[in-house]
Amino acid sequence: MHSEEYPLVPVMKAADRLKSIKPSGIRRFFALAQQLPGCINLTVGEPDFCPPEHTIEAGWQAAKEGKTHYAPTNGISELREALAQKAFRDYGLTYDPDSEVLVTIGGTEAIFAALLGLLNPGDEVLIPNPGFVVYEPCVLLAGGVPVCVPLREENDFKPCCDDVTSLVTPRSRVIVLNYPNNPTGAVLSFDEVAALAKIAVERDMIVISDEVYEKIVYDGARHYCLATFPGMRQRTLVINSFSKTYAMTGLRVGYVYGPTELVSPLWLVHQYAVACVNSLSQYIALDALRGSQDFVKDMVQEFDRRRRLVHAKLNEIGGIKYRLPSGAFYAFPNIKAFGMTSEEFAEFLAKKAGVLTVPGTAFGSGGERYIRISYAAAYDLLEKALDCIGRAVEKIN
Ligand SMILES: Cc1ncc(COP(=O)(O)O)c(C=O)c1O
Repeated sequence: MHSEEYPLVPVMKAADRLKSIKPSGIRRFFALAQQLPGCINLTVGEPDFCPPEHTIEAGWQAAKEGKTHYAPTNGISELREALAQKAFRDYGLTYDPDSEVLVTIGGTEAIFAALLGLLNPGDEVLIPNPGFVVYEPCVLLAGGVPVCVPLREENDFKPCCDDVTSLVTPRSRVIVLNYPNNPTGAVLSFDEVAALAKIAVERDMIVISDEVYEKIVYDGARHYCLATFPGMRQRTLVINSFSKTYAMTGLRVGYVYGPTELVSPLWLVHQYAVACVNSLSQYIALDALRGSQDFVKDMVQEFDRRRRLVHAKLNEIGGIKYRLPSGAFYAFPNIKAFGMTSEEFAEFLAKKAGVLTVPGTAFGSGGERYIRISYAAAYDLLEKALDCIGRAVEKIN
């Protein structure tokens, strides 16, 4: 979300269902960015790379060929077929491109449509806290009840099975998982995914597995797709996107894999909400899938360099505690020692260090005493920003 967002005015005429929906906690910090020109912005959750040149060429070509009409509701067939092949190549999963693959407007629409398509009023949905900002409002908009699963630093921000089990009730319907994780960068091991999968099977729950950072892992870590675990294929909607992997956030192409019973409801919501995904974007995405994957490898390598810089520099700052996670492109350091709330600390950094970060509470109450730093920004900019943070913080130590 960007600063040119629609201004928030009292919404006298808004529907009742919006009453419990709060605007994203990130937006205040975008507004602050406008008041503080020259600030280094480390809030943005998108790669600072441009998609590979050949993908843009493919978009031009598609436009010249007149592929500017409505696309099929579930996505152009070539893209769905390429996505089915990807699922098999990456994870040995077989999905029917016609009924088990759906192309969506980014992962965001997929999450919204999945919840709207699956929940009945009062159904409980386990969501991570801290967690990606859309889960809770989407559950509420779909008439569900969000139930927060605490992600604790002492457990490297991975869900503890006892917590999950204790939060499951007869009304629990869905569990949302997101690994590699935004905002914490955590990645789950094989055994950790297996343990969560076992709970989902035993408690007969549907899993929405948000895997948009699947390719952004470091230190030889591996991403394990939830649907590959015993009993999971038939109960998992795998959400993915071209946004992070190919630096195509603005093209808005995401996708879902799942069994027909789970994909069909989503498809129906998608049909009436958006009709189809932008056809040119789909050709660009198709070209990205078909082309060399070196772009992804090189981008992740560069993220890794920045990740190490951020880790080293943060830990040089007295009072900041930060363990190096193995995924995504976010640092989520602990700022408890400064005795400020995460909002206060982020505001302090904006005003005194000239660096914009996101307060941890933008991701839920579990983000209190943390801030999120995106290292999807240039290396030298990160270096400068962390030096500025260090100098500003020295004055309070
Ligand atoms: C965890 C997670 N899921 C989904 C998305 C949605 O991305 P998009 O709609 O661009 O595919 C994001 C974007 O920041 C994210 O961090």
